[in-house]
Amino acid sequence: MSNDPPLQDRFAGLPPLLPMVPYERHDPGVPPAEAARRFYEVMDQRRSCRFFSDRDVSRETIEWICRAGGTAPSGAHKQPWRFVCVRDPALKKEIRAAAEAEEREFYERRASRRWLEDLAPLGTDSAKPFLEIAPWLIVVFALAKTDDGGQVYYREESVGIACGLLIAAIHHAGLVTLTHTPSPMRFLGEVLGRPAHERPFLLLPVGYPAEDAVVPEMERKGLGEIMVVDRGEDG
Ligand SMILES: Cc1cc2nc3c(=O)[nH]c(=O)nc-3n(C[C@H](O)[C@H](O)[C@H](O)COP(=O)(O)O)c2cc1C
Repeated sequence: MSNDPPLQDRFAGLPPLLPMVPYERHDPGVPPAEAARRFYEVMDQRRSCRFFSDRDVSRETIEWICRAGGTAPSGAHKQPWRFVCVRDPALKKEIRAAAEAEEREFYERRASRRWLEDLAPLGTDSAKPFLEIAPWLIVVFALAKTDDGGQVYYREESVGIACGLLIAAIHHAGLVTLTHTPSPMRFLGEVLGRPAHERPFLLLPVGYPAEDAVVPEMERKGLGEIMVVDRGEDG
């Protein structure tokens, strides 16, 4: 702890300090480098999947995945996320219809030439059958205010991290997802009847991959391209 006096001593009327409890380190049972390598090897198998099986996934599974997402750090611990999990076929059909309408508009009018050039190799288009086929859709909403009207901090960063954890948890469970961003996503709040302070952030279909699922063959950047040590002068 620092030698600064606590905020409570410097500003009147602040809430009291929380009780401080001992931190219990997660022990992976192997040295950190080995644990980190194993985690990387699992995560390196993750791919965005656009072809889903209709095989069911239990609600319990989705609940554990959401709990994992909810472990994310957040600005001032405001936890500015809501994970709306959809499995009702009629609701999924409605979401698919609305998403495809937005996507048609995107591909035919809104997308810049450059954006279409970047998307072309992936083979994506406005058809989103997976929104009905996948047994679950997790629609992530970012909270512009807390549920009781309080301020949130670093909303985008916090919800982005929560989404990363959700995606990792889905992959870790042996399932697949796709970070889907029908644009604009306002319709999701309307279809799902969410309150105004919840802003659609990401749509994650969750399920098993289709038996004949394929993914585009792509390389990820190597370590030398994504990591710099100090000022990058260590060769
Ligand atoms: C914020 C974000 C939005 C994305 N939106 C879409 C999308 O709307 N449709 C889609 O098919 N893929 C979408 N993707 C998936 C990317 O195309 C994919 O992550 C990228 O091609 C790398 O492939 P990989 O996830 O298999 O490693 C999105 C990814 C991110 C991170």
